[in-house]
Amino acid sequence: MQPSLRHEIAHRRTFAIISHPDAGKTTLTEKMLLFGGAIQMAGSIKARKAARYATSDWMSIERERGISVTSSVMSFRFRDTDLNLLDTPGHQDFSEDTYRVLTAVDGALMVIDSGKGVETQTRKLMEVCRLRNTPIITFINKLDREGWGPLDLLQNIEDDLQIECVPMTWPVGKGGSFRGVYDLGRRELRLFRPGTNRRPEDVMVINDLGDPALDAHLGEQADDLRRDVELLAGAAAPFALEQYRRASQTPVFFGSALNNFGVMEVLDAVIDLSPPPQPRATTTRVVAPDEPAFTGFVFKIQANMDPAHRDRIAFLRVCSGKFTRGLEVRHHRLGKEMAIKNATMFLARERTNVEEAYPGDIIGIHNRGTLEIGDTLTEKEPLQFVGIPRFAPELFRSVRLRNPLRSKQMQVGLKQLSEEGAVQVFRPLLHAGEVILGAVGALQFEVTKVRLLEEYGVEADYSPVDYVSARWPTSTDETKLKEFQREHRGQMAHDIDGHLVYLVGNLFLFDRLAEKWPQIEFHTIRDHRPAA
Ligand code: G4P
Repeated sequence: MQPSLRHEIAHRRTFAIISHPDAGKTTLTEKMLLFGGAIQMAGSIKARKAARYATSDWMSIERERGISVTSSVMSFRFRDTDLNLLDTPGHQDFSEDTYRVLTAVDGALMVIDSGKGVETQTRKLMEVCRLRNTPIITFINKLDREGWGPLDLLQNIEDDLQIECVPMTWPVGKGGSFRGVYDLGRRELRLFRPGTNRRPEDVMVINDLGDPALDAHLGEQADDLRRDVELLAGAAAPFALEQYRRASQTPVFFGSALNNFGVMEVLDAVIDLSPPPQPRATTTRVVAPDEPAFTGFVFKIQANMDPAHRDRIAFLRVCSGKFTRGLEVRHHRLGKEMAIKNATMFLARERTNVEEAYPGDIIGIHNRGTLEIGDTLTEKEPLQFVGIPRFAPELFRSVRLRNPLRSKQMQVGLKQLSEEGAVQVFRPLLHAGEVILGAVGALQFEVTKVRLLEEYGVEADYSPVDYVSARWPTSTDETKLKEFQREHRGQMAHDIDGHLVYLVGNLFLFDRLAEKWPQIEFHTIRDHRPAA
């Protein structure tokens, strides 16, 4: 093993922020970049987002709804560590993309609004984190607002998300009477002063709870804090790094991102607690990050923002070895060699050409459709990383082309959009000409519609169909599978990769049906790999 490779791995963290919309993800991201020195001024992320909206037409949907459809990666340095922060688009119409981003990280930061507790999307994202036991650090935000009490919040997270909470800091008051947080590990009190441009140095530290200065600063709340701390010492579970890394415990921090309060502690926790780039499973073996040979997989494809250019960016997570510009790799799905000459990294300020990258880094590779989600690139060894899933869609539309002469364009367009993960395309076995689109969020249909029209000149009618979910059936008993397929032909389809799918009309009836076919497994998630 090369010592420099080991050093680079130890000094990297790749993580995502998960939250329900409005909990404060953008604000927290911005403050982290500010503290990392990656941006000079708060507000620039939002400004940059706004500027980007203007660059393409289909993004008018984003503009109209004031949301972000595409996710991005930002790299910055804090202390002596390179942090790769992956954004998970957070609108309620979020897409599979959001889920897939989570397959490329080693840890997640969960933001909870102290006035709302766990919300629907927090729950959904948490489910995805569970698939790989992704360790989670929790930040409870907006303490400067009148919200729930800290004990109620912890209880809510534990009950709803089934994860043990370990408070690392403890708030003094909330809303108008919010005075600061007490760091339970360091036994320090950091006093809160509102203000959006304040840097962390402005925070005062008091080392001893018995210190009369505490009463001078907190008044009656000093005794509340003393009582709470005593109570916690007896009641709260101690923090155990192993349990956090196994995702059965989450360390909890309190603060206010808007006021730059508690942000530094969270950044410290990402570096001190969350794991460096981890080993990854392939279909044949587990790849350790410190293996010298380069390996990586594509977890996201993004179309060029400018519809005049058809090239796309494939986001690749480096899993092992070192990437250097011009590296010759093997693209195993296509069985081809390719040289990666112009990879991009996404520094918060700008995009830069990558000269080298290490495990945990995300590089963007420009291509014209040779790379798909789930593709593995390695120096030589034939490998296929697993765990980049397709999720069963919950919404369906049937698509009918207005002008049959554009059929070819529609095929090409849908294939591309499907490869990007925007929608899933199903072809019913009984009606070969029909196309059914499936998505996790309704917005994806709108994106598809606009892009098919603007980029491929395809006008189509989209009508709702009576499906509520999909299942990928598999069985070791081929005959049974064939029998099932025959009996339920009317609801069977092929997905874009040629896998068999059962389209579910009613979840209750489906459960009864599944009971009748115990030899068949019905999967709600499918690994992103072409059918054998
Ligand atoms: P999101 O990315 O998770 O959707 O949330 P975002 O950061 O955009 O924050 C949502 C709203 O919550 C924003 O207000 C933001 O200013 C506010 N906010 C974030 N952190 C805090 C906090 O610690 N305290 C308080 N009081 N508010 C906070 P907005 O009015 O919707 O947007 P804006 O006009 O301020 O940009």
